[in-house]
Amino acid sequence: QRRGYHEKVLDHYNNPRNVGSFQKGDQDVGTGLVGAPACGDVMKLQIRVNKDNGRIDDVVFKTFGCGSAIASSSYLTELVRGMTLEEAGKIKNTDVAKELCLPPVKLHCSMLAEDAIKSAISNYYTKNPNSRATDLSGTGGVIPDVKVEIEQTGGSPAAAV
Ligand code: FES
Repeated sequence: QRRGYHEKVLDHYNNPRNVGSFQKGDQDVGTGLVGAPACGDVMKLQIRVNKDNGRIDDVVFKTFGCGSAIASSSYLTELVRGMTLEEAGKIKNTDVAKELCLPPVKLHCSMLAEDAIKSAISNYYTKNPNSRATDLSGTGGVIPDVKVEIEQTGGSPAAAV
């Protein structure tokens, strides 16, 4: 084990979860891109939100930074999957730092993770302003199925082989 890094950090660093990118332009994707002024490290976090239940369906990250920043973002992706945006917006950097046993000098690395999820959520709300008012999380599966209207868009079916 390298001096100074807890084994949980090393685990995420060696096997980062959910590394990747979504199309930034997708309507259901929120992108957070944040930097730490102190060290210049950068974190990109993207969430894909399920419109029907307002929960984070999928989440990916790319981090250019230290081991603690990579571990923080990797852990964060595991944490927020399945959460509502409201729940995910309440995550504090100290939740991340505690899980990863980060020392005080590495707290700003976990701050990147908090900033990144907040920024991704606010980007999603900017793209989907109406989603904020629609909180379906308490309706327990009795959401009426009203959106079953499939429009045939004419033309002959394209046969791409
Ligand atoms: Fe800057 Fe870790 S040293 S994010």
